[in-house]
Amino acid sequence: MQSNSMVAGTTQSATPGDGKQMKIPIAKPFFDGSEIPGIERVLKSGWVTQGPAVEQFETSFKNYVGVEHAVAVSNCTTGMHTIWLALGIGKNDEVICPSYSFIASANAVRHAGAEPCFADIDPHTLNLDIASTRNLIEQNYDSSLTNKKTKRKLKAILLVHQIGIPGDIEAFEQLAKEYGIHLVEDAACAIGSEYKSAKIGSSGNLCAFSFHPRKVITTGEGGMVTTGNSALADSLRVYRAHGMSVSDLARHQSASTTFEKYEVVGYNYRMTDMQASLGSSQLLLLESILSKRGEIANQFISAFKEIGGLCTIETPNYCTRWNYQSFPVRLINKTADQRNEMMNHLQEKGITTRRGIPPIHLEPVYEQGLHLKNTEEVSQTSLFLPIYPQLSQNEIDYIIESVKAAYKIVDQS
Ligand SMILES: Cc1ncc(COP(=O)(O)O)c(C=O)c1O
Repeated sequence: MQSNSMVAGTTQSATPGDGKQMKIPIAKPFFDGSEIPGIERVLKSGWVTQGPAVEQFETSFKNYVGVEHAVAVSNCTTGMHTIWLALGIGKNDEVICPSYSFIASANAVRHAGAEPCFADIDPHTLNLDIASTRNLIEQNYDSSLTNKKTKRKLKAILLVHQIGIPGDIEAFEQLAKEYGIHLVEDAACAIGSEYKSAKIGSSGNLCAFSFHPRKVITTGEGGMVTTGNSALADSLRVYRAHGMSVSDLARHQSASTTFEKYEVVGYNYRMTDMQASLGSSQLLLLESILSKRGEIANQFISAFKEIGGLCTIETPNYCTRWNYQSFPVRLINKTADQRNEMMNHLQEKGITTRRGIPPIHLEPVYEQGLHLKNTEEVSQTSLFLPIYPQLSQNEIDYIIESVKAAYKIVDQS
């Protein structure tokens, strides 16, 4: 890990006993100053929108992940919207997705004019449960995959690698194949995570990543879609840039005068060259960021083993690396109120936590009277702890001791 002296917003490394109140946010992006010359070069070049730096970031990204194509976009949500457009999924179509996800997973389906259909999760992996997904298909759709109530057609499954924990890609590929539907991966949080020793994004399925600052690496806002299919990659490129058949960069580099065509209604979902330059620098730091996150997570896991009523995630065997984009703990046999009380105790200690992920199917825009047992239970009893590379050993120890103390109070209440 390089020096973090240039890290924006570095917290005070106060010890619990020195009289200063600790202030530990839930997340922090990691910058070390190595990004600045690249961004300066972009500014000096005069080409600041999608151009050579985006192309370079796409190349570095696809080489890192181990996939044929990477298409940079303005964020993961727009990336997923372009995925549905490229697959021709829209009005009168449905996509199965987890409710235990950030609302953007479902919103992007609606942006395309289709409707999300929610399946439950496996509470141990926080990811789409294969049995619940199969059950939803068998119960809700007829043999031509038409929804018996809505009359819309099932076209795809969206497997979200939630908080960077890989979903069971092969099992879902098999299920999607069985029904002749698409499998798409929402890897917003999963850069660097591995499924059976292969990086997330390398499956060749359409897969969307986010570079929002809550993620492991960031470009401020930004996203990337990976795929093994050249025709789909071409289509994503057209949709992200107004439906333009030839990119600005290709026209600029062409020796002869070249005119573009517009055959589809596209969007402006481009990443800028300034963001892409930052992304390329962040990729170089990724391995050290991942190993530091792993070290902190291991300390949390071994410390919380002592507390019987608090459980951490045990990753499934197929997960050969979890990037620890977030670190959840779950209170066993406790209520949402007790979880909230624990969050309040930690907040009083200056430690910011999050309640985890609110279920999409309970939000007013998606509410349809659905009950998803695991999704609701996990969501009510989990909390996410701060995890980022700049945490000092003092801060890690302080979080551990504060969690133990807060749990004790909640357990006795
Ligand atoms: C699972 C998931 N999907 C999609 C998104 C949306 O990403 P973005 O903010 O880059 O559009 C997020 C962001 O938090 C996410 O967690």
